[in-house]
Amino acid sequence: MKIGVTGASGQLGHIVVQQLLAKCPATDLVAIVRDSAKAADLASTGVEIRVATYDDRASLDAALAGLDRLLLISSNEVGRRVPQHTNVIDAAKAAGVKHFVYTSAPKATTSALVLAPEHKATEEYLASSGLTYTILRNNWYTENYAQTINKARETGAVVAAAGAGRVASATRADYAEGAAAVLVGEGHEGKVYELGGDRAWDFHELAAAIAEVTGTPCSYQAVKQADVVAAMTRAGMDEGTAGFFAAVDGNIAEGALSETSGDLAKLIGRPTTPLKESVKKLVG
Ligand SMILES: NC(=O)c1ccc[n+]([C@@H]2O[C@H](COP(=O)([O-])OP(=O)(O)OC[C@H]3O[C@@H](n4cnc5c(N)ncnc54)[C@H](OP(=O)(O)O)[C@@H]3O)[C@@H](O)[C@H]2O)c1
Repeated sequence: MKIGVTGASGQLGHIVVQQLLAKCPATDLVAIVRDSAKAADLASTGVEIRVATYDDRASLDAALAGLDRLLLISSNEVGRRVPQHTNVIDAAKAAGVKHFVYTSAPKATTSALVLAPEHKATEEYLASSGLTYTILRNNWYTENYAQTINKARETGAVVAAAGAGRVASATRADYAEGAAAVLVGEGHEGKVYELGGDRAWDFHELAAAIAEVTGTPCSYQAVKQADVVAAMTRAGMDEGTAGFFAAVDGNIAEGALSETSGDLAKLIGRPTTPLKESVKKLVG
């Protein structure tokens, strides 16, 4: 059986391939990357490296040839993802891929999350493609808060416009292990998994975890979305990106990332990584 992973030079994809190497022979694995130089370490393990970009259908046709299962790791090029993902789905269909797995977003088809529309469109296209598929609706990576944590170490405050919202985050390693379990496992066809941490935390808990890990006081300072935009633009970020981050905080305040389904712990056969443990790693 040949299993392909796109985005294999990215942070999540790289860990997925490492997880797969623990479960099956390297000769079963194909890492699909844009730049083979970034996959030199994977090549040295015996994994086959194929080069393709989501924008170039011909490169995808060649890269997906002979694959039985494929993980499409959603592109990080927000705004261009629907045509890119559509290309990968079309190429997988043409190549006769038997099981297509896609990393999506929490409740993608109904969520108000600013990032949901491209995932919704991809899920719908995939569902209409006739391919056998599994959707991995990944909640937030705890690593998304690395900067927040490091800033809080300097200032003693976690500043966010997330109100009393909760985030059911897990680590990239947790999600990668879940993806690998689906790629080598059976019985996941047609399933939509809401993947995330076992326990959703709020920003007071994040601040408390930082205080405990660093041994210095830290508290949550809840602000308005406009304050987040103002602080980020003062720090040099463009207004569009700052507005995006503020909108995500607003989504969190409204509960868009708070669901805990237990699906990820079930897939990986262990509890997800607790917040405090992740904060410890991110603090270094
Ligand atoms: N759940 C969350 O909290 C969260 C947070 C951030 C992102 N995401 C989503 O999850 C995905 C994986 O996360 P990550 O941390 O692994 O992101 P990442 O490190 O930025 O990796 C993204 C991967 O996508 C590849 N890629 C981007 N555009 C491509 C294109 N046009 N053709 C082929 N490959 C392309 C990149 O290739 P290169 O290595 O060549 O750059 C990279 O390998 C992201 O792409 C994004 O969709 C989720």
